[in-house]
Amino acid sequence: MIILGIETTCDETSASLILFQNKKIEILSNVVLSQDIHNLFGGVLPEQAFRKHQENIIPVLKESLKPISNIAEIDLISVSAYPGLLGALATGVAVAKTIAKIINKPVIPVNHLWAHLLVNFHKVEPIEKKALNKKYLGIVISGGHTNTYMIESVIPLKIRNISKTLDDAVGESFDKVARMLGLGFPGGPIIDKLAQNYRKRTNVNKPLFPIPNPKGYDFSYSGLKTAVKRFLENSDHIDKEEICYHFQFSAIKHIVQKIEDIILDKRVKNILVGGGVASNSFLREELRNLSNKYDLEIYIPEPKLCTDNAAMIAISALFIYLSRKPYKIPFDIYPSEEEGNREIWNIK
Ligand code: KG4
Ligand code: ZN
Repeated sequence: MIILGIETTCDETSASLILFQNKKIEILSNVVLSQDIHNLFGGVLPEQAFRKHQENIIPVLKESLKPISNIAEIDLISVSAYPGLLGALATGVAVAKTIAKIINKPVIPVNHLWAHLLVNFHKVEPIEKKALNKKYLGIVISGGHTNTYMIESVIPLKIRNISKTLDDAVGESFDKVARMLGLGFPGGPIIDKLAQNYRKRTNVNKPLFPIPNPKGYDFSYSGLKTAVKRFLENSDHIDKEEICYHFQFSAIKHIVQKIEDIILDKRVKNILVGGGVASNSFLREELRNLSNKYDLEIYIPEPKLCTDNAAMIAISALFIYLSRKPYKIPFDIYPSEEEGNREIWNIK
């Protein structure tokens, strides 16, 4: 079967075709157009994002459809319906529903955050129940979210939220610190690079900023951001690479410590990671160490599947389809995950 995925939750316009055949997934196309306009402002502007999606969605879609000769070859359409920016979401959902109507095929609404996790299975073979009924801890670390999930099984898809950030998302804190340092947007990859430079040239000493540690499994980044701000205000000479290193150290250690708490408490052996921050080099190194320490199986997508893309939406739709998971029709768009889960899947 061929599945079309459409993704327009934030500032990437993306469309993808996947082929599911012989219990294997093949990504036929995955076109992603990023909106550089937000670089000028150091953050995503909702109205600009909406305008750019309107401009880009048709060319992106056309490019993604190149592997097939007729849109009627598509068996299933999928689209991120939540969480995200309203105008941005509305663009993708309108296009998905229109194509579905024209070719008379179903359209599946996808939770963008589940998709960041489920994309990890694109190389798993065979895609069938007995291979995918293990328990996984899921961690979504992106510009908008820092969430953990318990995935009891993938087919059928049984997933529930464990924890979230109490304030800023981790990617958002990378972006805000980069902005304080005048480094451009998105800040994550730049901070990652400068932190690596610092590590190459210096024997790192003790951390400059405390590692956040709110109660339970939740996350918090506003205190760390404020600590960096204070440090900058009170310093005469600023070594940007040093600040990047220390900020990244505390930001990533915070995630790794919470993961360690959860795997010990809930006896998890398998972990799925997703979202833009999953491409962070220090996080990947720390997760490799954790995996060795506890003999864990950790899945992290390749960098181009970590950031927002439509292949992850199409892949998630496949698991929803294989799970025969009933969803609300017609579905709407929802800015928050709680609302989307409640309205579409009846998850309280
Ligand atoms: O998942 P994503 O593409 O979009 C959202 O759904 O938010 O994630 C984007 C976020 C941005 O905040 C960006 O700064 C961060 O991911 N990011 C990184 C790295 N690459 C991207 N953060 C830390 N290290 C990186 N290497
Ligand atoms: Zn995302």
